[in-house]
Amino acid sequence: MHYGKPLALALLMLATADFSLANDGHGYKRPKRLAIPADAPQLWKDECSGCHMLYSPGLLPAESWRQQMDTLSDHYGSNASLEPEEQREIVDFLVRASAPNRLPLEPSKTTGEPPRISQTRWFERKHDDVSAAKFRRESVGGRANCVACHRDAERGDFDDDRVKIPR
Ligand code: HEC
Ligand code: HEC
Repeated sequence: MHYGKPLALALLMLATADFSLANDGHGYKRPKRLAIPADAPQLWKDECSGCHMLYSPGLLPAESWRQQMDTLSDHYGSNASLEPEEQREIVDFLVRASAPNRLPLEPSKTTGEPPRISQTRWFERKHDDVSAAKFRRESVGGRANCVACHRDAERGDFDDDRVKIPR
C-alpha cells in the first residue's frame, strides 16, 4: 500500500507518541505507561492502599518514589513506616516500574513533604479545566483521589473518554 507523505508522517508521529512520554502540544509532558505491571508485588498492593487509592508507579519518576519511600515515618503527616525489608521490596518495585517515566523530579510545594503526583506540572496542565470547587466536592475527596473521577485509576487507566466527575 502506498501512503502519501503527510499520512506517512502522521503515522510515524502516532507511533512515536505511544512512547513513555507524550507531549500534549503545550510543551508539557505527561507520563504514558501507567498500567500496573503484572509482576507487581502483593506487599505493595496491600501496604500502599490502606489509607488511599493505589497509585500506579508510572505516575512519578523514580527519584520521587525514592524520596517518598525514605520518609515513610513522616508521610504527609502520617506514619506509614514499614519493616526495612518490606520497604526495600516496595522501593525496588517502584523504581523499576517507573523507569519509563522520564519526567523531572518536582518537589512538593509544601516544605518538608515528599513529591506529590497532584502537584506536578503535567497534572496541573491536564486538569486546568477542573475547578478547585470540583476537587473539593465531598464525592471527590480531593485532587489525590484520582479514582473518584477516573474509575479504573487503580489499574492505571486515566483515559479522558472514561472520566466522570461525580456530583
Ligand atoms: C497510614 C496511612 C498511609 C499509608 C499506609 C500510605 N499512605 Fe500515602 N498518603 C497518606 C496521606 C495522609 C497522604 C496525603 C493525602 C492528601 O493530602 O490528600 C498520602 C499521600 C500519598 C501520595 C501523594 C498523593 C498526591 O497528592 O499526589 C503518594 C504518591 C502516596 N501517598 C504513596 C504511598 C505509598 C507508595 C505507600 C506505601 C508505601 C503509601 N502511600 C502508604 C497516608 C498513607
Ligand atoms: C475531580 C475529578 C478528577 C480527579 C480527582 C482527577 N482527575 Fe484526572 N482528569 C479529570 C478530567 C475531567 C480530565 C479530562 C480533562 C480534559 O479533557 O480537559 C482528566 C484528565 C486526566 C489525564 C489525561 C487523560 C488523557 O486521556 O489525556 C490524566 C493522565 C489524569 N487526569 C490523571 C489523574 C491523576 C493521576 C489523578 C489523581 C492524582 C487525577 N487525574 C485526579 C478529572 C479528575
